[in-house]
Parts: sequence; C-alpha cells; structure tokens
Amino acid sequence: MPEAFSITAEAIAEERARVGDDLDRFDIGRVIKKDELELRSLGPQDLHLRILAVSVEHNVDHAALADTTNIAEARGGKIYPGNSAVAEVIETGAQVTRFKPGDIVITHCNGEPDIYGYPIYIWAYDTPDSIGWYGREAVVGDWQVVSAPLDCGLNLWEIAALPLRAPTAYHLWRRALGIFRVKVSREQLATVQVLGFGGGVSELFLMLAHHEGHHAISCAGSPERRKHLEGLGIETIDQTEFNRFASRDDTKGFIRRVREMTGGAGAHIVCDMLRGPVFPAGLAACARGGVNVSAGWQLSMNVQYNSASLSIRQITLDHTHYETVDGCNAATELYGSVFRPTVHDEIYAFEDLPRAVHELHRNTQTGIPIVRVADEMPAAAEALIP
Ligand SMILES: NC(=O)c1ccc[n+]([C@@H]2O[C@H](COP(=O)([O-])OP(=O)(O)OC[C@H]3O[C@@H](n4cnc5c(N)ncnc54)[C@H](OP(=O)(O)O)[C@@H]3O)[C@@H](O)[C@H]2O)c1
Repeated sequence: MPEAFSITAEAIAEERARVGDDLDRFDIGRVIKKDELELRSLGPQDLHLRILAVSVEHNVDHAALADTTNIAEARGGKIYPGNSAVAEVIETGAQVTRFKPGDIVITHCNGEPDIYGYPIYIWAYDTPDSIGWYGREAVVGDWQVVSAPLDCGLNLWEIAALPLRAPTAYHLWRRALGIFRVKVSREQLATVQVLGFGGGVSELFLMLAHHEGHHAISCAGSPERRKHLEGLGIETIDQTEFNRFASRDDTKGFIRRVREMTGGAGAHIVCDMLRGPVFPAGLAACARGGVNVSAGWQLSMNVQYNSASLSIRQITLDHTHYETVDGCNAATELYGSVFRPTVHDEIYAFEDLPRAVHELHRNTQTGIPIVRVADEMPAAAEALIP
C-alpha cells in the first residue's frame, strides 16, 4: 500500500490536551503522520497517478490545528490531506481519452461543482470520501486534473506552487474587478489602485492586476516576498513597519502611506485573505466605491464593520471560494506569463512534510513551500528541476 500522510481527530485531541489548547505551543508534526493508503480500484473514468511534488497549503494547517473547524472529526475521524499536486499519469481507466500514461498533470481541488460550477466542497478537505495528494500515489477521476504547462517558462517547483493558489487568485481578481466595473467604468478610471496583504494567493492576485496595467501594491512582512514582487514591478509596503496594525496609530500611518502611494485615492480593490487586524486596515485604506475581496480567514473567521459607513462610501465586501473547473483551466494558461510565484528556499523531502506545515504555521518561510514526493522524476519533469 502506498505511503500517505493522514490527520486524525485522535491525534489532534492528544496534541491539544498536551499543550492545554495553547496553539502557539501546538506541534503540527505530532498530528500529521505518515500512514498508508489503500487505493480504490481504477474506474473507467479514473487516472492512477504517481505524485511528483506538492505544495503546502494553509487549509492543511487549519485541518491539523482544528482552529476553524475540526474537519478530521467531521469526516469520521481521519483525513488524508493535500489538494495541490504535480503528478505523472501511470494508468488510465478504459474510457479516459484526454490523458495517457506518461502525461504530467496538475490537480485542481474543486471537489463538487454547484450549478454554476463553483465548488460546494474542496477536495481532500470537506468533499465526502475524498483522498488527498500528500501521498506517493493516488486514484482520481480524470475531471480532477489539468495538463501541466511544462513549457510555460516556470521550473517544476514554481509549477507545483500554483495548482491551488493560482485559481483562487484568478477567481478573486475577476470577481473584484468585475464588481468594481459595475460601479466605475473603464472610461471613468482606466488604472485601478490594487492592494493585497501577505501570502501566496495575494501575490498572484497582484501579478494579475499588474499584468493588466493596474497599480499593484503588496503589504507583506516577508522581505523575500517583497523583493520578488518589486522585481516584477509591483510596489510594496513593509507590514511590520506598521506593527501589523496593532494600534490605531499604526493603522493611521498605514492609511497615510496607501493614500500617498495612490495619489490620494486609496485602494479601489483590496485582497484581504487574512482578516483579523488586516480587515479594518484594508477597509480604512479603501477608496470610495472600493471592493474588499477575500477567500480566506487565516487570522479570524469573524469581521465587524459599520454598515452605514460602508454604504456612504459605496464599499462592497465580496467573499469567494476556489474556482470553477473552467476557471482553473484559464488560470493554468497564465502560468509563467503572469504567475511567477515565490518559492521557499528549501525544497522539503517527503519525510519532512509535517515540518513544512509546521514552518508554514510559524510563518518562517521565504515563499510558497514545496515538497518533493518522487525520488525519481520522469525525464520531462527532471528537465525542469533548477
Ligand atoms: N477559499 C479558498 O479557496 C482558499 C484558497 C487558498 C487559500 N485560502 C485561505 O487563505 C488564507 C491565505 O492563504 P495563502 O495560500 O495565501 O497563505 P500563505 O501563502 O501561507 O500566506 C499567508 C501569509 O500570511 C501572512 N501572515 C502570517 N501571519 C500573519 C499575521 N499575524 N498578521 C498578518 N499577516 C500574517 C504572511 O505574510 P507576511 O508575513 O509576508 O505578511 C504569510 O505569507 C489561508 O487561510 C488559506 O486557508 C482559501
């Protein structure tokens, strides 16, 4: 049976008891454990995959901590996490026509599209019975993968950084700009002021804005991420200079900075993803008619706002989730030409995956964390290893 990492409700309960529910002392390495997985037999529309590399996603952190919801418990006591991977097709079901053995693919994690194509569930998180890709092999339906754009100019680790974060950013951006354009036409304002806070999704969102000719500003604590974005022509603000908005004066100083950088307007579009203290700072920095968009709640699930004030300023709050399958395909077209992610400087070995999640949680990484799963790579993937 192939090796795969799992998270159990029992391990979460033991670790929470050990640290007395103090999440600062919580050791994720005691919760994400190497396990084995019995693969389901190959159906006619299925692919048998060998996983090559995966990126570490924040929902695995949330699943291990059970800080937003206890998803392992809700799924019957155990999940096999991992919803972003690059893989090699090693076998195809009898009715599969789009893929053949030897193809390199990336996964998407829309676990069950609703009537408009948006995910009701996320694969390997809340999709019932879904098995994730933090393992050596997997069996998935062929609708769950997209051909990997191997000639897009990115290296293998950069491609592995994108399957979850790029479609999320793509959806956030098309929604935010579409909503803003309902209020303010291109004829009235061609160049939109766009602000994003920290994080892999947010940096990709800003790359889309910049690519389309808008003025993009990243407010991040990470010097490596700021340097990378500046190299792409995106302006930056050091979030730690404003103490991550710990006091009113910090937030006031931040708003002044955003106004200076946007010719007095403020941000027409803000990508939050974090909530907590970032939310009021982002709202205050919004321009008249602005849009605040988010698909994340990393620091807090609840927000508070003054409805009268937002009405008077014509501000829209929008909530999105992962993309449609069509949107995932469209986002994949932009690998390399628009999306050039930051990648953490250590490529983790498969055994070190729990440490990679722990370091993500501690926010000590220099970019998106990647885990190399396959020791031997197919030639097409090997050629893309820097
Ligand atoms: N709904 C969806 O489909 C969806 C998809 C993707 C992600 N998400 C969620 O969105 C959130 C962000 O995801 P991501 O992939 O962009 O995460 P990420 O790449 O891990 O980035 C998170 C960022 O948060 C910042 N940060 C950490 N601690 C902070 C603090 N105390 N105050 C302010 N900033 C802090 C860090 O940036 P700096 O230190 O550089 O400021 C870090 O880079 C997560 O909660 C994730 O689960 C949702």
